[in-house]
Amino acid sequence: MNLAMKKIIIGNWKMNPRTAKEATLLAREIRRGIKNIKNVEVVLAPPFIFLRDVVGIVSDNPGLKLGAQDAFWEREGAYTGEISVAQLKALGVSYVVIGHSERRALGETDAMINKKLKAILGAGMRAVLCVGEQEKTKNEAFPQIIRDELGFGIAGIKKTFFKNLIIAYEPIWAVGTGRADTPKNIYEISVLIRRELYRAIGRRAAERIPVIYGGSVDSKNAKIFIREGAVDGLLVGGASLNHKKFIKIVKEAGVL
Ligand code: PGA
Repeated sequence: MNLAMKKIIIGNWKMNPRTAKEATLLAREIRRGIKNIKNVEVVLAPPFIFLRDVVGIVSDNPGLKLGAQDAFWEREGAYTGEISVAQLKALGVSYVVIGHSERRALGETDAMINKKLKAILGAGMRAVLCVGEQEKTKNEAFPQIIRDELGFGIAGIKKTFFKNLIIAYEPIWAVGTGRADTPKNIYEISVLIRRELYRAIGRRAAERIPVIYGGSVDSKNAKIFIREGAVDGLLVGGASLNHKKFIKIVKEAGVL
């Protein structure tokens, strides 16, 4: 955990809520609730269709940022259904989550994630690269899959771009299951992720990369993850749809 860094709390709304009205309300409630919290960067990542509704709500609050849940690597052209990094940037998006396990499960490969990462970082936006193992592993201290997802994900990326990279450790078995990881394991894996980054890109670049945790984070366990898990922030799914819970998570991160 880098103590000089602002904590990063990201609300991944996934394919929720149903209407623009509900999305606007949720974003407004969150903005009101976190108004006075200074040392936390809060990112709201609604579905693409609500980005325009939410951008006006986050834009007058410096601690609140707009995130997207994915982006395509090409700038423009015949790519039906895709949204480019340039389009997101033009709309006011400054964070993009990439390689989420739910997208990998739909067929997204490390090669695609690598191209997306290059496009996002190349545009000067912050990229949140999700990595994590499928099953809880007892005999493998640092699951090979995490090493691979990190290695392939950041392959060929210019050193100067690493300042905008964030790694989200999200064990798949903990995502959306209500079975969060233990602070001890989060601590150990985050240390191993950092060590892997040191090895791959050198200490100076690696030190600046925040490592955050996601997987069944709620208002009750958030504090202990940041304190004992020693992570730089949290990626919150389900609990980010409830403004009271999400605000509490942000506040817990703010007082640490
Ligand atoms: P969850 O989702 O908090 O609902 O487990 C986390 C995520 O998918 O980022």
